[in-house]
Amino acid sequence: MAKTGSNAPIGVFDSGVGGLTVAREIMRQLPEERMVYFGDTARLPYGTKSQNTVIRFSRQIVRFLKTKEVKAIVIACNTATACALEEIQKEQELPVIGVIDAAARVAGDVTENNRIGVVGTTATIGSGMYEKALKQYNEKAQVYGKACPLLVSLAEEGWLHDTITEEVVSRYLKDLQYKSIDTLILGCTHYPLLRSTFRKVAGENVTLVNPAYEVAMELRSLLQERALSCDKDVEQAGKKYEFFVSDAAEKFCELANSILPYDIETVQQINIEDFETEDFREETTCKKM
Ligand code: DGL
Repeated sequence: MAKTGSNAPIGVFDSGVGGLTVAREIMRQLPEERMVYFGDTARLPYGTKSQNTVIRFSRQIVRFLKTKEVKAIVIACNTATACALEEIQKEQELPVIGVIDAAARVAGDVTENNRIGVVGTTATIGSGMYEKALKQYNEKAQVYGKACPLLVSLAEEGWLHDTITEEVVSRYLKDLQYKSIDTLILGCTHYPLLRSTFRKVAGENVTLVNPAYEVAMELRSLLQERALSCDKDVEQAGKKYEFFVSDAAEKFCELANSILPYDIETVQQINIEDFETEDFREETTCKKM
């Protein structure tokens, strides 16, 4: 017998379309589950923001998702996972998972020479969270991080198979190629959209790690453990998948339809700032030049 709430949706969020690479895997592996997706398109990119700001944005989104009565939350964004997962988990009773741990587990396992590259946003690479997680799964791992701040914009622009994107990826990967890595973590959920370009530039001998598959498996186990898996025999009320953004719904819809295995009918725009949790004002004294 499924517990009350087990037929509630799963909340998934990212700064934009990147988290759809995780959402589509959840749709594939857990086809009976409902989902509410939020893309913070008004405030993207997250990767150049401070940790405090990403925590504040994440709290607002969690608050919004809770109004949809989600039973679990997947932070389908490496930057928000690196900056805010710990805080959010401390504050929430409902299960919340991120994407870094799954990626580190896979990479730590598949590497043969223990030389692992990680590409991600400036905030993710700067946080050192990948290094920390990788050492837990493979203490011999040597980790080489590379921030690739231009790639999120190229992915959001839909330039997935473009010579300019290839040139940019080549430049970013140059440093890592000298490190003889055999494994490369795509440490931003936007990057699997550029997978073919990464494959071309990195070559066939480097294993590319996209944690979406493992994140969906982790979610399945978590739901089972907490007796929260959806009851297949119960008629589901409401829409199976709902999509919300903070801006540019039409553009999101267009891109989402090229990423997801089915066409989205509607995307609703909301004002995410309405979900502010506290009076948030910070004062910084500027250094004199
Ligand atoms: N998909 C987000 C991530 O995984 C993108 C970050 C951004 O908005 O800069 O980090």
